[in-house]
Amino acid sequence: MEYDIRREPVYGSMRLDKTRLVPYNRESALEAAELLKYGELVAIPTETVYGLAADALNENAVKQIFRAKGRPQDNPLIVHIASMKMLPPLVREIPDTAKALAERFWGGPLTMIFPKSDKVPCITSGGLDTVAVRMPASEAACEIIKRCGFPLAAPSANLSGKPSPTTARHVFEDMNGRIPLIIDGGECEVGVESTVICFKGDKIHILRPGGITAEMLSEFGEVEVDRAVTAQPEKDERVLSPGMKYKHYSPKADVYVVNAHGKTFEEYCIKRSRFENDLIVLGAGVAERGVFHDYGSTPEIQAQRLFALLRKADELGAKTVLVEMPEHSGMGLAVYNRLLRAAGFKIIELEKEYGNN
Ligand code: TXA
Ligand code: MG
Repeated sequence: MEYDIRREPVYGSMRLDKTRLVPYNRESALEAAELLKYGELVAIPTETVYGLAADALNENAVKQIFRAKGRPQDNPLIVHIASMKMLPPLVREIPDTAKALAERFWGGPLTMIFPKSDKVPCITSGGLDTVAVRMPASEAACEIIKRCGFPLAAPSANLSGKPSPTTARHVFEDMNGRIPLIIDGGECEVGVESTVICFKGDKIHILRPGGITAEMLSEFGEVEVDRAVTAQPEKDERVLSPGMKYKHYSPKADVYVVNAHGKTFEEYCIKRSRFENDLIVLGAGVAERGVFHDYGSTPEIQAQRLFALLRKADELGAKTVLVEMPEHSGMGLAVYNRLLRAAGFKIIELEKEYGNN
């Protein structure tokens, strides 16, 4: 940790030979905060996925995020805070429902969209006049934000288009040479990104499903789920959340969601694996054997494992990945949403042909 930022003043995120990966502790949190104060990028753990953080209020620092990720500039970032005190300067208005939701679900995997104040640079909000804010539950993330004293813009710390990172090793695979520091806080608990909501009058509108489910939110008002959560946007359709229009979470392999369960699903996959090399299967609660990998028997476990398994598909050199259709309610909606995008909305319908079993 004898890394002196004054002796090596400019790493310019793309010019590094090597990125340091250090475990989260008091010292590394301090070092992360120092780098962030200098306008550098640091990858930090959160309870959802790893984030690629920069000072949210520093235009030049935020620009580096888009560069390091290869992210389109019209895709806005989430601003992370560590206390309720940090919210009012970022926004023009806080609806009562938002106050109630913050009280109940912050720190946690819920992102809320507010009209933005002038303090938030346009680059952070992707040119929109709104800003997405979340307070993470992760101790590491909050500690680093507190040490900085300013909010952190942090998208998922993957290269744009790749599955989000749920371990520090995933971040290293994508960001080595692009950023100076990765803080390793272990495996992310939730495994998929936060729920993103906006407010339409009294209604809570879900733009991206996540760990705080529609069912949980419905205690606080009428909840509607944006069409883009489960449907492919039409060409040129205006989507409320710009992130929804990009291909996402994709391994190199072709991913298909297979709408079948139990024996129907397994027999279909076995049949295909006889004729196709480089095929792997992610089944919900299947016994691990041959081409079959278990992606979890509950939506919560599936969320934790999904991105790591999509990355593993690449490591295994898979050309095709067949994934058993997840549930569509509770946390299942978040898993389904990520899978649809990983699959480019390709669904193989077997239920209709063979009936449900
Ligand atoms: O769990 C998470 O939210 C993680 C961790 C690191 O906190 N972050 C994350 O950020 O997933 P990112 O950039 O990968 O996803 C942010 C999503 C995008 O789909 C973006 O379009 C949407 O939030 N978003 C951000 N600001 C928005 C705004 N003002 N209006 C609508 N959508 C917005
Ligand atoms: Mg992302």
